[in-house]
Formats: sequence, C-alpha cells, structure tokens
Amino acid sequence: MKLFSELRVNLGERSYPIFVGSSLLRELSDLVAERGFRGWKKAVVVTDLNVGALYLETLLSELEKMGIQAFPFQIPPGEKSKSLQMAYELLKFLANSSLSRRDLVVALGGGVVGDLAGFASCVFKRGTDFLVLPTSLVAQVDSSIGGKTGVNLPEGKNLVGAFYQPVAVVSDVDVLETLPQREYLSSLAEVAKYSFLKPNSWKTSLAELSRELLERQKEALLSVVATSAGIKAHIVSEDEWDIKGKRAILNYGHTLGHALEAATEYGTYLHGEAVSVGMLYAACISEELMLSEGLSARHQRLLSSLSLPLKPLVAPPFDRLFTHMLQDKKAAGEISMVLLESEGKPLIKSGIERELLEECYASFCGGEST
Ligand SMILES: NC(=O)c1ccc[n+]([C@@H]2O[C@H](COP(=O)([O-])OP(=O)(O)OC[C@H]3O[C@@H](n4cnc5c(N)ncnc54)[C@H](O)[C@@H]3O)[C@@H](O)[C@H]2O)c1
Ligand SMILES: [Zn+2]
Repeated sequence: MKLFSELRVNLGERSYPIFVGSSLLRELSDLVAERGFRGWKKAVVVTDLNVGALYLETLLSELEKMGIQAFPFQIPPGEKSKSLQMAYELLKFLANSSLSRRDLVVALGGGVVGDLAGFASCVFKRGTDFLVLPTSLVAQVDSSIGGKTGVNLPEGKNLVGAFYQPVAVVSDVDVLETLPQREYLSSLAEVAKYSFLKPNSWKTSLAELSRELLERQKEALLSVVATSAGIKAHIVSEDEWDIKGKRAILNYGHTLGHALEAATEYGTYLHGEAVSVGMLYAACISEELMLSEGLSARHQRLLSSLSLPLKPLVAPPFDRLFTHMLQDKKAAGEISMVLLESEGKPLIKSGIERELLEECYASFCGGEST
C-alpha cells in the first residue's frame, strides 16, 4: 500500500480524513486496521454494474478480512440511477439486510453512486456510517468531498438531498486506469478549475503535469488528486452548509456550463466538457469587465494542453442559454457569475448585462477561440 497523502476535512465533530494513494483498495483492511476505525459488523456496498464488474470482488474480500459481513447492491450505471425510485429500492435493501445504525454503507463508484449511497445512508434510521471509495476522477477530486448527497427529480438535478459527511474517503488512483477515456479527459476540467482558483496550492503546476496526466501516469495522478482534493476540502471546511458564499466559487465555469448541458438536454456534453467551455466564457467576461489581460489566452493554453474543448461542441442559440442561466439555482433572478480578477482571485459578480453575456458568447462561437 502506498499512502501518498492524508488530508483532513475540518468540520469539528464531523471532521474526516481523505486518503490518497495507490493499492488502497486491494489493501483496505490494512488501512482500516492501522487507523482504528470502529469495528463494523455489517456493510451494504453500493456500486454500479461497470465498477462492480471490475472492483467489487476485491472490496468484498477486503471486507471479509475485516470480519465485516457485506451485502452488495448494484445499480445500472448512469445519471438515471440517481432517482428517488432507486433511493427507495436501496433503503428497502438496507432494511432487508437488517443494517443497524452502527453498521456501514460503502459507496464504491463515481459521483452517481456516492450521491445516492450518501443520501440513503443519511436518512436510513437517521444516519448510518458512510465510507466512500471514489472510483472516477470527478468523485476523487470533487463529489466525494464536502457532504452533498442527493438524487434528481424529473423537474431538475439534485433537487432532493442532504448534507451528510462520510467517516472517510479512500481515493485509490489505481482504479482511474479503467475509467473510459472521454470521462477521464472531461474530468480534467474540474482539476483545471482548481488550478485557476488556487494556483498557489500546486507544487508542480498543472501545465507542467499535462503530458503525464494525459498518459495517466501514477505519480502525476497522485499529485493532482491530492492537490485538488486538498483545495476542495479547504473550501468546504470554511462553508460546510454552502451559505457563506465561500463554496460558491466552486461554481466557476458552471453558469454557462450548466446552461449548455441543459439546453442540449444532457445528451451532447459531458459535464467537464461544458465546464471547460464555461471557464473560457467566464474568462472572456472577466477580461471585458476588469481588464484582467491575457486571462483567456492562459485559459486556452492550459485547457488545450489537457485536450479539453475550447468552443461549444454544439452551440445553442443565446436566447435559450440565457433562459437556462437565469434558471440556475444560484442566479436568483439575475445573472450572477464567478469571475476571476486574475488566477487565484475569484469574485462573484451579480447583475451582469445581457449585452455583454451575448457579445462574449458570439465572439466565442465566431471562431476566435480555436
Ligand atoms: N456531491 C457533490 O458534491 C457532487 C459534485 C460533483 C458532481 N456530483 C455528481 O456526480 C455525478 C457525476 O459523477 P461521475 O462523473 O463520477 O459519474 P458516474 O458516477 O456516472 O461515473 C461515470 C461513468 O464512469 C464509470 N466508472 C466510474 N469509475 C470507473 C472506473 N474506475 N473504471 C471504469 N468505469 C468507471 C461509471 O460506471 C459511469 O459509467 C453527477 O450526478 C453529479 O451531479 C456531485
Ligand atoms: Zn462541476
């Protein structure tokens, strides 16, 4: 087992560690024994069919070594499984497995598995212990950290949920080897977001690591997952319930990103691809409003070195996007966006004029950002 980094989400009595390393899944029993977690007797392991086929057996044998009786619950992969219906099925499964409040729910998977399992874990008997083994890059750098759990409604994404912190997050970068290429590349957009928001937290800059990252070299992955997770952990520690405005900076690139995803019915863009385009858009608006010169060009250089899209893959008409931007849950009747004065200096700007928003979108679709 190679433990590369042990981070901490500092939330008083709800604090928990994030372990980043390699061979952590294959040697989970050693890690748990070393750290003296509570001696769980029973666990329900939630995974999806893709991840389950690859890693469930390994996890079950580790749980057996720990003397934990495990019950797997496998869901179809994809966003559709993040539903109230699936939460209901999972809650019934927890009840039928006679799980007690002192037992454990384990999430083995990407953000879909984590959000669903975390939610069920929070509401089942008012809370069982919850352990996350994130297997996608999105889950390792973003969704497993900070306690946001929940499911979607037909009316919108993440409309039902709760804040519920896990007992620990165990991020094994070995499992990223099997992540489909497009999923992997698009997730690098969230990593790039952290490097624009907190450039000083990076020992080696993301630009310098880009080639190794494209090749999924282990050392680069360890460093990038640990740095990104550390940034997210720090931000959520300052604003656990997302009410102080500190967590809101994580929305960088997401105003246009969410609108592009929604306007194309979630069928064209992977989330990270939309966020990549959204960050360039935010950089364009930042430049126009504050003359932070060269920001767009620097964004383009980094994002293209990570093979991320620089222009809309499909460009819906601006009117449609504008309607979606206004509906964004963080918009409150006017367009409010996270902008950058420069790298490392985010700010939230409200009441941005429609004219400017449209102008930047047009310039962008007109071929300036190739
Ligand atoms: N709670 C939060 O704070 C938060 C933050 C960001 C995103 N999210 C949520 O996370 C979800 C997206 O997460 P995601 O991108 O991980 O999607 P996902 O869970 O759907 O996983 C993406 C795909 O990769 C597969 N996969 C995962 N790990 C794999 C591996 N190691 N090898 C092979 N295949 C693997 C999955 O089966 C799936 O097909 C969305 O529902 C989003 O709303 C939540
Ligand atoms: Zn995102």
